[in-house]
Amino acid sequence: MGLIHCRFMQDLAGKHIVLGLTGGIACYKSAELCRLLVKAGATVQVVMTEAAAQFMTPVTMQALSGRPVYQSQWDVREPNNMPHINLSREADAIVLAPASADFIARLVQGRSDELLSLLCLARPAERVPLLIAPAMNREMWVHPATQRNLRQVDADGARVLGVGSGWQACGETGDGRMLEPQQLLEEIVAQFQPKTLAGQRVVVTAGPTFEALDPIRGITNHSSGKMGFAIARAAREAGADVTLVAGPVHLPTPRGVVRIDVQSAQQMLQASLQAAQSASIFIATAAVADWRPASQSEHKIKKDGSGQVPVLHFVENPDILLALAQGERARSGKLFCVGFAAESENLVAHARAKRERKGIPLLVGNIGPLTFGQDDNSLLLVDAKGERELPRAPKLALARELVTEIAARLPAGSA
Ligand code: C5P
Repeated sequence: MGLIHCRFMQDLAGKHIVLGLTGGIACYKSAELCRLLVKAGATVQVVMTEAAAQFMTPVTMQALSGRPVYQSQWDVREPNNMPHINLSREADAIVLAPASADFIARLVQGRSDELLSLLCLARPAERVPLLIAPAMNREMWVHPATQRNLRQVDADGARVLGVGSGWQACGETGDGRMLEPQQLLEEIVAQFQPKTLAGQRVVVTAGPTFEALDPIRGITNHSSGKMGFAIARAAREAGADVTLVAGPVHLPTPRGVVRIDVQSAQQMLQASLQAAQSASIFIATAAVADWRPASQSEHKIKKDGSGQVPVLHFVENPDILLALAQGERARSGKLFCVGFAAESENLVAHARAKRERKGIPLLVGNIGPLTFGQDDNSLLLVDAKGERELPRAPKLALARELVTEIAARLPAGSA
């Protein structure tokens, strides 16, 4: 593992997280969450309620966090005997995972007769965010009392991270599962990113397109979609509402991003036009096929043994970026368009020419063979003033830098 990779994984370096566990079977997932936080560079102080310790031993959490767990407000380790003050002042964030229905109700009431609720009440709310990952049976989740309590903790300044849906430990199926550790990690990392795109609506195209020849075969390319997915994630971390129009790729949807799956360039165009109607930023990273078969055979094109090969005819695909850049929203300054160029040589000249041809304010050049399928990349930003290189780094790190660059170029007052 190289240095670059380490940086990618150290998104929480220097951050101190208080991880609070309350009573629920989802405590088993909190062990993994703790590991992920530590791997991401955070120091983690675990605090457990009495009920949580029925589901997971403090020894396990101590071993994973490398710190003794706090369980009582009477802990004699604190010289001033005020663990609720000390722990909440040290924290960069307090994460409750799992947060039981009962514990959320306790937060609503401002109860403080045990350490975890006490330190939540004592937290300096203006600088220590409180993130809540609920976990409970589906009936408990939809109960008006729970929903009312969630609205109240939200109004009181906590951030409720939502729940997953599916099979529950009780044997029932529905909403109320705690989010997966990886999803929680993404939310916690996002919490610390600067909100440079707050209020913006971003549409990103990503991946290849697939142009069908018949029901079995088609024409596509090697784009993995990784750069576009990283940009969608970075834009959401920066506070934007993000829609990701994705060609056929095998990547998980970034947390909080609306994903529209498409196959062909024509479908990608329709989905992009629709999504961009209310968007303020359009980022075209997709490797769209320039041509598609002129006609699509209803049935598989078979070889007939005669040695005759089929003759394929092509028509040009719509240029999605061009269509949006020439649209009314972009021309009236309401839609900021960003394009990508994958070249194999002479990057600066090709990128400059492409920016002019597409009529867009910002074009991002990269060398195709050095980016397809890779986890890292280097980018060349070309705008009307000149070029700037973002040296080789993980795609998510580059995506965050690109988002900052885009935010700096938005017309004043947009959002
Ligand atoms: O013209 P070229 O394909 O090199 O331009 C690349 C840029 O244009 C990328 O941003 C790509 O997503 C976008 N594009 C598009 N629709 C096409 C072809 C390219 O949106 N049909």
